[in-house]
Amino acid sequence: MPISALPGFRDFFPEDCARRNQIVSTWRSVATRYGFQEFDGPVLESTDLYRKKNDAGAEILDQLYAFADRGGREVALRPEMTPTLARMVAAREKHYRKPMKWFCVSNFFRHERQQKGRLREFLQFNADIIGESSPAADAEILSLAIDLLRAFGFTAEHFVVRLSDRAAWMDFLASKGCDHAASLTALACADKLEREHPDKLNARLAPTGLTVEDLRTFIGQGSPQAFAPVMDALAARGLTGFVQPDLSIVRGLAYYTGVVFEVFDRSQTLRALAGGGRYDGLIHGLSDGAADLPAIGFGMGDVVLGHLIDETPAAAQRLQAALAPSLDIFVVIADEAHRPEALGIVQTCRELGLSTDFPLKPVKTGKQFQEAEHLGAQHAILVGQEWPLVKLKHLATRAEEVLDRSALVQKLKSCKLDS
Ligand code: HAM
Repeated sequence: MPISALPGFRDFFPEDCARRNQIVSTWRSVATRYGFQEFDGPVLESTDLYRKKNDAGAEILDQLYAFADRGGREVALRPEMTPTLARMVAAREKHYRKPMKWFCVSNFFRHERQQKGRLREFLQFNADIIGESSPAADAEILSLAIDLLRAFGFTAEHFVVRLSDRAAWMDFLASKGCDHAASLTALACADKLEREHPDKLNARLAPTGLTVEDLRTFIGQGSPQAFAPVMDALAARGLTGFVQPDLSIVRGLAYYTGVVFEVFDRSQTLRALAGGGRYDGLIHGLSDGAADLPAIGFGMGDVVLGHLIDETPAAAQRLQAALAPSLDIFVVIADEAHRPEALGIVQTCRELGLSTDFPLKPVKTGKQFQEAEHLGAQHAILVGQEWPLVKLKHLATRAEEVLDRSALVQKLKSCKLDS
């Protein structure tokens, strides 16, 4: 039996890589526009990094690819970036001016049930602001999440940021007499309200003294006062149309302490495109108090984003246009006797920074021109019996001129190629 990729893992053929690169370069360019700096961390971490701030039974712990390495250490493939970021920040924060605005694009691993929008290895963009607790930082992070999606051609018709507040939830749960453990159970149930049957949730909620109805009543009370400064800052940027206060969002991860949000497609047929929030205690907790910095950030995966692009014609066309093959020059070798001179021209073109291709073995001249068009070449340089004269041909207009080698090099150098 032939061996194929494991379930939930993807092969990236060249066309898939081109698509992934385009998504990544869009993420990078918007993050850079926002003044964020790129960082990265290791793929393998100590399992304790994930256990330390998560309560036993947390979903992410059940999804870890965890094993003992050859030295007997308990290690895990990273399921998310935030604990790594918190670890790195705690180790070096004194080297950096605050606030730190960092982003990364990395691959992550979760042993999830494979389904539409959820794989076992995925790419995730993360952006975080560390060392700033004001709503201005919350608004900056939300704006970045919105502008990332706008850069793919999406509008407020296509997606919505559902904004909530963990602090409001904790206050509500405390008012109902929930201790820490009961609060975590209630939050886990609130996170599943849209996906699980009420009977099942009521059974889980029983030890907390709460019911699905209590959670729904709290959610129905609308927008807490705490959202006002963030919403004002978004209004000043003209971005409120993308945001909807919605207390039904609680987030599955344990470390969030304040504003939390998830981004969904408007028709709500897909899983979340992105999610994040404020986690003011994580750096303190993971570093045993050595560092104490407020932080807020989010992650956006490539899988759901890819589905939404495919289902939105404007976004799909934009991506397709960016993926059109392109090459500056195709060197056509019309006379094999001059292959060495043609190779010299190929080399010169490449050294001048022009993307250049040529046939690796003898091929009929007509076929070479077909190949040039297939590769999206702008120009062909024909090297044939007329050597030392060559023909430079603009493939779209068919305009051509005959040049000697030095005139050709002059033309290539000054980039005076007619387009
Ligand atoms: P998360 O909600 O677990 O948050 O993941 C964020 C996004 O990553 C999701 O909305 C989804 O697009 C994508 N994602 C997550 N799991 C999978 C999967 N199995 N397959 C495909 N895509 C997936 C976090 O990871 C937080 N660490 C984000 C954060 C950064 N919070 C603060 N800073």
